[in-house]
Amino acid sequence: MHMNETQLIPMLSDIELDEINAEIAHAPYPQAVAIDALKIVQAHRGWISDESLNAIARHLNMSPAELDGIATFYNLIFRRPVGERVILLCNSVTCWIKGYEQLQQQISERLGVSLGETTKDNQYTFLPVTCLGACDKAPVMMVGDDLYENITSETVTQIFRTQQEIDA
Ligand code: FES
Repeated sequence: MHMNETQLIPMLSDIELDEINAEIAHAPYPQAVAIDALKIVQAHRGWISDESLNAIARHLNMSPAELDGIATFYNLIFRRPVGERVILLCNSVTCWIKGYEQLQQQISERLGVSLGETTKDNQYTFLPVTCLGACDKAPVMMVGDDLYENITSETVTQIFRTQQEIDA
């Protein structure tokens, strides 16, 4: 198949470009907005594919490998497809001590998936995450953009009940 030029050059949408350029306008140099640019594109596309990564790197005038290093280091950037909502359960030491394992089992059973997996209906992806910086409120987890602190098995039940109501 003959590929034309536009298929070869990874593209950012006009909205993505506007939002990224607005960040660049306040930055000392384009590469300084790497994480913001990744977040912007992720907000529009759900996750950062290789194509998206290449397009952002090109726009920020950096190498894809350099940008991938940043994306991989920053654990709220997803380099694989995820469901509608990502559940991030902190598995660092304080949360671990405060009942991580039991919560992980409860959430896995509730969703029918193991860590790293997405539910069949594509509603949830369940991932472990390193310290979210809220250790004094351990154990903690994020559902989408919401941070839940001091979670217990009752609060997990409640969180899913509330999510179901939101979806209904
Ligand atoms: S160890 Fe979980 S928030 Fe720090």
